[in-house]
Amino acid sequence: MCGIIGIVSNKPVSINIISSLKRLEYRGYDSAGLATLSKNEINEKKCSGRVEELEKILFKSPSDGNIGIGHVRWATHGIPNVTNAHPHSSEIVSVVHNGIIENSDEIKKDLEKKGKKFKSQTDTEVITLLITEALANHNPLDSVFKTLKKLKGSFAVGILFKNHKDIIIGARRGSPLAVGYSNKENYLGSDSYALKSMTNKISYLDDGDVCILTKDNVEFYDSNKKKINKKVHLLSDDKGISDKGDYKNFMSKEIFEQHVTAKNCIKEYVDNLKEDINIFNFPIKPSNINKITLIGCGTAYHSCLTAKYWFEELTKVDVETDIASEFRYRNLKFNENNLYIFVSQSGETADTAAALDICKKNKVKTCSIVNVVESTIARNSDWVLPIHAGPEIGVASTKAFLGQMIVLFILALKISKSRSEIANDLYIKKIKNLKDLPAKIKETLKVEHNVQLMAKEFLNAKGSMFLGRGSSYPIALEGALKLKELSYLHAEGYPAGEMKHGPLALIEEGLPVIVIAPKDKYFEKTLSNMQEVIARGGKILFITNNLKELINENIRFGLRVPVLDDSLSPILLTIPLQLLAYHVALLKNCDIDKPRNLAKSVTVE
Ligand code: G6P
Repeated sequence: MCGIIGIVSNKPVSINIISSLKRLEYRGYDSAGLATLSKNEINEKKCSGRVEELEKILFKSPSDGNIGIGHVRWATHGIPNVTNAHPHSSEIVSVVHNGIIENSDEIKKDLEKKGKKFKSQTDTEVITLLITEALANHNPLDSVFKTLKKLKGSFAVGILFKNHKDIIIGARRGSPLAVGYSNKENYLGSDSYALKSMTNKISYLDDGDVCILTKDNVEFYDSNKKKINKKVHLLSDDKGISDKGDYKNFMSKEIFEQHVTAKNCIKEYVDNLKEDINIFNFPIKPSNINKITLIGCGTAYHSCLTAKYWFEELTKVDVETDIASEFRYRNLKFNENNLYIFVSQSGETADTAAALDICKKNKVKTCSIVNVVESTIARNSDWVLPIHAGPEIGVASTKAFLGQMIVLFILALKISKSRSEIANDLYIKKIKNLKDLPAKIKETLKVEHNVQLMAKEFLNAKGSMFLGRGSSYPIALEGALKLKELSYLHAEGYPAGEMKHGPLALIEEGLPVIVIAPKDKYFEKTLSNMQEVIARGGKILFITNNLKELINENIRFGLRVPVLDDSLSPILLTIPLQLLAYHVALLKNCDIDKPRNLAKSVTVE
């Protein structure tokens, strides 16, 4: 997946393209490029690596032009290098593209038979060559429509034309695309976030739509080339988003502001006066909910797994979880009394969005739990519960995970209450405990110094294992994922009870094994599983809320988080694991905010 920007203006655009690309880097950062039109020439500049490199190139050799397109890439077809970086230009057309052209090989062969030459290994270049070919007999809009008809896949494009110096054309099929409006300046962007520093007036293209931008006007067409009107949305403020303050990087800021994240989120949902939860307008009356399916990818999926334990503990509703990329291809039996909950920080993840579309096609009720309320997933679902975490910039999700868990816990509690499945005093007690959560998170963050010491145990490790039972199992998965993402160390998350069925073979002298064992109903069982590891030489790093058990000669290192409601302990136990991944990555000198090969929002399948 990649990020697209396009600007048509009455003044030079390259500086604004660069600053928008920086905002888009969360979508990909393995190469970048831009093309402007000046003196009737397409002027293309590209680099491998970050937008910063592109900025340096422009500093040495500025690009003029009041119209231009830019791109950040996350490689799908072809390695990340300068040749494969976008834009891909011919003499007369320049294209930036997000998504995948599934039939590019076929098209490429046809074009090669006609003698056309390809410079890159990308699927994008077929778009450039097809439009170039069509322009011989058609105007730009018709050439784009003619080309779109030949393409299969899910994508968004931005196109610049040498002989039509006032226009940029954008087209969307599957991958999101937005248009922004300003005075004597209009914009095309992969999302509203890319455009936020320039405008708060946005329209979104729907699937199949095409738009033509000039500096004074934007026209929209549907897939049948019929002119259409678009609603203009006004965006909310960014709330000081791109400022990491005194922190070394965004991730540490995001970890250390989690008590505030929790406070803001709880404030939105919990009625302070009435000890009640302010969630209304359920798309299905809670008493009629037959089953809940929780769907997400990556970290968001781990919040779904955690929530499954809460729904099972607090309600009598049947609960299922699924990874979006699996859900979308399953042979599912949809039921109008099932509630399908989609969890996504960005609200743009392609697999999650596609899974949501399938639910919509099957006319079942959907709810989304997102951080970005203007996102595709939020806009397409029947019901939105925002997590109010504020923008998350670090690619590895931290505060959004915490926010997702809090909203899911609150939702489970509310559904339970609405179905009269929880006693009133327990309901009130759970709400009170929830209100204590921000303070407990703040207290938990104090474990940092000990985590730093623990992190050293990983420096020469071949791999590591994270174990937990019950709701600590998804937290083990998330701990392992964070470590992989940030430090590139192999890490396995496993249900502690499942170790004996295979993974125990991996345990050898000195292998770091993180045991997550709050004092809950699984505690003793987890300790037994820990003994199995100790017997085989594993190095135990123990995370608990039970002080007594920390004193054990077989435990190399112990950490304690505060005690709170048992149900909420997964939230507190997450924090040392985030810090652990962070400190191991710091020791290994890894790029904390932009780990290799990853992107914040994965908008391709
Ligand atoms: C990417 C990110 C992960 C994230 C996942 C789902 O893979 O690198 O950190 O958990 O996408 O993202 P979402 O925005 O849907 O929560």
